[in-house]
Amino acid sequence: METKILQILKNTKDDVAEEKLCEGLEVSKTVVWKLESEIASRLQTNWAGRELHCYEVIDSTNNIAKQFAQRSVHGAVFLAEKQEAGKGRRGRSWISPSGTGIWLSLLLKPEIKPTQASMLTLVAALSMSRAIETVTGLKTEIKWPNDIVINKKKVCGILTEMSAEIELIHYVVVGLGVNVNIEEFPQELKEKATSLKLELGKSIERASLICVFLSYFEQDYEIFMQKRNLSGLLKDYNQRLVNRNCEVRVLDPNGEYMGIAISVEENGGLIVKKEGGEYVTITSGEVSVRGIYGYV
Ligand code: BTN
Repeated sequence: METKILQILKNTKDDVAEEKLCEGLEVSKTVVWKLESEIASRLQTNWAGRELHCYEVIDSTNNIAKQFAQRSVHGAVFLAEKQEAGKGRRGRSWISPSGTGIWLSLLLKPEIKPTQASMLTLVAALSMSRAIETVTGLKTEIKWPNDIVINKKKVCGILTEMSAEIELIHYVVVGLGVNVNIEEFPQELKEKATSLKLELGKSIERASLICVFLSYFEQDYEIFMQKRNLSGLLKDYNQRLVNRNCEVRVLDPNGEYMGIAISVEENGGLIVKKEGGEYVTITSGEVSVRGIYGYV
């Protein structure tokens, strides 16, 4: 909405009459307010999403969350109908068409060490996996650390960003992209991406999924904060692990190797049994894991 106002002001030479501004905003206002009011009326959380910012078009919800970080509260949520420069992990872009996905960033101000922050991504993946199952009945799996897959195709990705000093977190932004009602993907993504609509054969109400996710996230976050690790969530997370007890290829910048994915441990690392029998714990960051036949 803020972007739209700026656009109208830029395109108008004279003073902008209030009616003119309202006219230009009419359609977007309706769409955005509908989503915003649907969420506000159904939200059952104490803090997650209680501060809610919805935009029609934005570059990236992670970026706007970072801009608002200082003046916003823990749990503030930033949503957009469309992202023009959606960001994926490892510098990739994230396709975010209008009205068909959940492009959501959650601002967190946790009292944990910066080294513990990456675990919040796994917490969010678990909460979203549970929310998708509750709302759609579809079985979801998690590709460590934080992709959610259905029938071996990716339906949700998460990008976590942080502002911190050596020992102190200023804030963490957890950005989730869920392909909800997308009907077609570009050729290069068709093999490995899917949407809830494609899997279920019908549209899903985004507001319901957002509210269920925020409720689960609030619970899971509180479990995480009790020990400041994943111990209370591991059973559920590991049951969803897509490559559990399967052969995987570990793409380590120091050398690729094969192994069996065993489970995730309480600090978020993936335990892998290497071909020679040695157990190693891999942490996200530089290393990624692939199934032997491709993405999963
Ligand atoms: C991935 O590469 O798997 C992570 C994708 C994360 C996309 C989401 S959409 C909402 C938030 N804003 C962004 O720019 N990215 C994240």
